[in-house]
Amino acid sequence: MKQEDLEFLDDATALIHLFDDRQAQYGAVNPPVVHASLFAFPDYETWKANITGERKRAFTYHRHGNPTVQLLEQKIAHLEGAADCIASSSGMSAISMVLIGLLEAGDHVLCINTVYGPVRGILGSIFKKFGVEVTYFGAEQSSDLSPLLRENTKLIFLESPSTGVFEIQDLRAVAKLAQNRGIWTAVDNTWATPLYQKPLALGLDISIHSGTKYISGHSDLMLGLVAGTATAMRKIRAVHGQLGASLSPDDAYLALRGLRTLPLRLKQHDASALKIARWLESHPAVVEVLHPGLESFEAHQLHRSQCSGDSGLFSFQLQARSESARAAFVNSLEFFSLGYSWGGYESLLSPLAFSYYGNDALRQDLGLTDHHFRVSIGLEAPDDLIQDLERALQIYMQTE
Ligand SMILES: Cc1ncc(COP(=O)(O)O)c(C=O)c1O
Repeated sequence: MKQEDLEFLDDATALIHLFDDRQAQYGAVNPPVVHASLFAFPDYETWKANITGERKRAFTYHRHGNPTVQLLEQKIAHLEGAADCIASSSGMSAISMVLIGLLEAGDHVLCINTVYGPVRGILGSIFKKFGVEVTYFGAEQSSDLSPLLRENTKLIFLESPSTGVFEIQDLRAVAKLAQNRGIWTAVDNTWATPLYQKPLALGLDISIHSGTKYISGHSDLMLGLVAGTATAMRKIRAVHGQLGASLSPDDAYLALRGLRTLPLRLKQHDASALKIARWLESHPAVVEVLHPGLESFEAHQLHRSQCSGDSGLFSFQLQARSESARAAFVNSLEFFSLGYSWGGYESLLSPLAFSYYGNDALRQDLGLTDHHFRVSIGLEAPDDLIQDLERALQIYMQTE
């Protein structure tokens, strides 16, 4: 396939065909899982040329690269329109690599206040210990962050949509502000996936995924992905080889398998979640539904201007009732498991406020109550899920 054809290739086709080399794998349509910590050199001269940098070999030691992992990285880099992509052992290891690769002692970070909790955790512990300062801002400030900039601001870290209350940040405005100021911009793009939101095309430097979610799609592996511009990725790749948060070839293989059905799965997550969100919106037990794809969602227009589709994670608030009623609601659901992760084939539900325990100020700021719930809509038939919710909501309203 010619380079100029690539740009016009639909993502679904690219995921299936791009970078696969069937001839090199005996015609097998699936890539081999290369179990190798070590890739030996054929002779002294090749070894020396690699050491001196005269002729670098693609694979020497798994921590620095593996063919199965590389195939996954190439496909994600293509989807993100990035110069390079690194796959790592979890979403948090991917985020840690970005922070370690780009920050130095004395730097200042601007971070969205609704960022995934453990990111706040490492910024407030490890990075604080090494002299990195952080200012948190609300999504409504993202259209103009200039009042918050300091001379030492080095990174603006976003998560858009955020994954509790789905705060939308103005990605184009943040990119424009940071350009020519020597400030890196990174966004956690897990909710939208590389199919629905292309941060680099909007001017940001780095897009990060917890591939544990939709990209794997089957709740059976941990995966982190960082894709970005050449300059950003040079710094991050240097850190990757040293930290050792490598992805196993087995997990890379499973992620590649997940990728092939990502476009189809997302279409279904999108349609089912919207159908259920609309149904919940009109239910008498429901106070509000927080789903950025709904026209009633405050930042819906901004969301649609930067994200072409929606995944299956959203939240809703029920009318206030007792804890026994909340327990009865959760326990009476047949098809929604109670659990932390999301983005898999199976539906999940979890009380939302507990994600923010330990940060009461933010919880209050966001107006989060014990009656907010987050759902990850899986691939079950949406009408079955609606019936399940309807029955559980009846029990909720009847329990004292
Ligand atoms: C939005 C978001 N980013 C990052 C992470 C971290 O990913 P992982 O659990 O793969 O380390 C998560 C995990 O739930 C998440 O929800």
